[in-house]
Amino acid sequence: MLTVALIGCGQWGPNLARIFHTDSRSRLKYVCDLDDSRSGLLAHRLRGVTIARDIHQILDDEEIDAIVIATPLVTHYEIVKASLEAGKHVLVEKPLAPEFVQALELTELAKSNNKILMVGYVFLFNPGILKAKECLTTGVLGELRYIQAIRTSLGPIRFDTNALWDLASHDISIMLYCVADNPVFVSGVGGYFTGNPRADIVSASIKFDNGSMGFLYSSWIDPCKVRRATFVGEEKMLLFDDMSPFESIKIFDKGVERGDLLDTYGVHRMGIRVGDILLPRLEPIEPLNNECCAFIDACLKSVTNPAIGDLPLRVTAILESIDKSIIQDGAPVEVETDLFN
Ligand SMILES: NC(=O)c1ccc[n+]([C@@H]2O[C@H](COP(=O)([O-])OP(=O)(O)OC[C@H]3O[C@@H](n4cnc5c(N)ncnc54)[C@H](O)[C@@H]3O)[C@@H](O)[C@H]2O)c1
Repeated sequence: MLTVALIGCGQWGPNLARIFHTDSRSRLKYVCDLDDSRSGLLAHRLRGVTIARDIHQILDDEEIDAIVIATPLVTHYEIVKASLEAGKHVLVEKPLAPEFVQALELTELAKSNNKILMVGYVFLFNPGILKAKECLTTGVLGELRYIQAIRTSLGPIRFDTNALWDLASHDISIMLYCVADNPVFVSGVGGYFTGNPRADIVSASIKFDNGSMGFLYSSWIDPCKVRRATFVGEEKMLLFDDMSPFESIKIFDKGVERGDLLDTYGVHRMGIRVGDILLPRLEPIEPLNNECCAFIDACLKSVTNPAIGDLPLRVTAILESIDKSIIQDGAPVEVETDLFN
């Protein structure tokens, strides 16, 4: 049994609280928030859960094995560090920390303290993304050419980070997981439209060492909620659409290939191949539940998963490099590959 405390009871924290409260292998002991009304509301809904006055009540309680953190990004470094130093396992919401050096320090601290530090990259536990990864590793799609990810909605607009860190961080986690190669350079541009000093819209690209590309488009001032990633392989193409839960994956037997000889000088027409569309059956599992179960497995049984260790750290490195490119109006910025070996 894993005894857990939740810090941060805003929009997202209650979703995590629900799962740790109901899972038979965990017990949610405390909820904590700077705003008493938020923790009070949540504790009222969850039988047997106590409101912690402050984070120290949680850190000092020897019964607490793990701390789940759903506070704004700007607070992650301090709360994660204090939690690891108090000997607790940590599940922190994405991204890990606002700076790469901080993310590195926390990752090393977790390693040296022999504690789990997992980041809430929930799409790595989404049955649709797991299917996409399977199609890539088993060769169904052929060699990957590119992944294009679009993530838009109207709000929430955050004031401690930009749309890149808030939204595209999910897509970068998906790309690193699926491409499984080192990024070489990135480029990005941002749009500032709400008076927020941080970008509301970001468009960015990532070039990987093996030649595949990642294209990102994220906005929190868009009228439509879109959560979509297209995987284009040499053999087939795959669409992941998280807004279409019963058909979140479509595999298209479509492609572009060298076609007929056009003339006697050996010039070819590009052939367009259009075949069947497959809708694979996916297990109807809630991704967040999968994520929390993976965290419990990691803490209780030392079973690792992609949201632990290098991947969340690499996401932070890529985010920081894209930020640098945005400041330079899209100039290519090298990603330090030493970090990826
Ligand atoms: N995985 C996902 O799909 C997903 C979705 C939404 C949000 N998130 C992440 O969850 C985190 C929180 O997002 P949110 O939308 O719930 O934000 P929010 O602003 O709605 O809630 C944050 C809460 O944290 C509390 N808080 C702030 N500093 C604190 C501190 N030092 N100690 C205790 N409580 C503190 C605030 O009072 C607030 O109630 C962010 O990292 C965000 O990126 C993840």
